[in-house]
Amino acid sequence: MARITASVYTSHVPAIGAALDLGKSGEPYWQPLFKGYEPSKAWLKANTPDVIFLVYNDHATAFSLEMIPTFAIGCAAEFKPADEGWGPRPVPTVIGHPELAAHIAQSVIQDDFDLTIVNKMDVDHGLTVPLSLLCGQPQAWPCPVIPFAVNVVQFPPPSGRRCFELGKAIRRAIESYDEPLNVQVWGTGGMSHQLQGQRAGLINREFDNAFLDQLIADPDSLSRKPHIDYVREAGSEGVELVMWLIARGAMSDVAGGQPPRLVHRFYHVPASNTAVGHAILENV
Ligand code: DHB
Ligand code: FE
Repeated sequence: MARITASVYTSHVPAIGAALDLGKSGEPYWQPLFKGYEPSKAWLKANTPDVIFLVYNDHATAFSLEMIPTFAIGCAAEFKPADEGWGPRPVPTVIGHPELAAHIAQSVIQDDFDLTIVNKMDVDHGLTVPLSLLCGQPQAWPCPVIPFAVNVVQFPPPSGRRCFELGKAIRRAIESYDEPLNVQVWGTGGMSHQLQGQRAGLINREFDNAFLDQLIADPDSLSRKPHIDYVREAGSEGVELVMWLIARGAMSDVAGGQPPRLVHRFYHVPASNTAVGHAILENV
């Protein structure tokens, strides 16, 4: 059977991708940020999974106000980097895993979560920047990736509670796949940031670090945090953080296993308009 070995949490700021693509990662502004991901890159090299199930949000790139799926699973064989207005990022095409994705869709939908099945989709910075942060600039991504897009852009996004419960259903789905695959689940977006309005530029270190503490130690109570608390404390785009609860809900302690091992934790301000947070948890 397939098993989930670890979960990875990280912000996905588009300027991080631009810094890498334009050769600026060694500049004083960016150096401390990329340094914080060095242990993660080494960890991923030593612990490359067979498949990454990557929870992210599309930023009105593949979807738009014409179509807004709450949860969408990418079942295609490949996903091209999207043109977000200045040409596609010069990063590898994402290779999917249609067989596992189809199995997860079947299991999770019949487990009462309504997923939208996507057979053709370009992927934006929400998905490619986390891969860049942990993989650097390879010729090809180290393994297949199943993109899982969550609507956190247009009201109403799903609740933290629903995301957490969905993570549990995703674990059940993956662990009932009849092939011994090593799967990681990644949750991306956040941390505190607001890109618009009077509070544009908002950062809340205290909220972010308390969120990380609780994500690691007590995700069940974290999952009860209402949207209004994210928006009030972490800014309008801080609500992206509900996606981290999907990855956390897929860890085995939530289903009665041992608490996960914290491999690495990192927090840095600023990166563009955003606080960057990152953690890696391993199932023991
Ligand atoms: C920024 C951050 C995001 O998460 C995003 O999706 C777009 C922009 C920013 O900080 O500029
Ligand atoms: Fe975003």
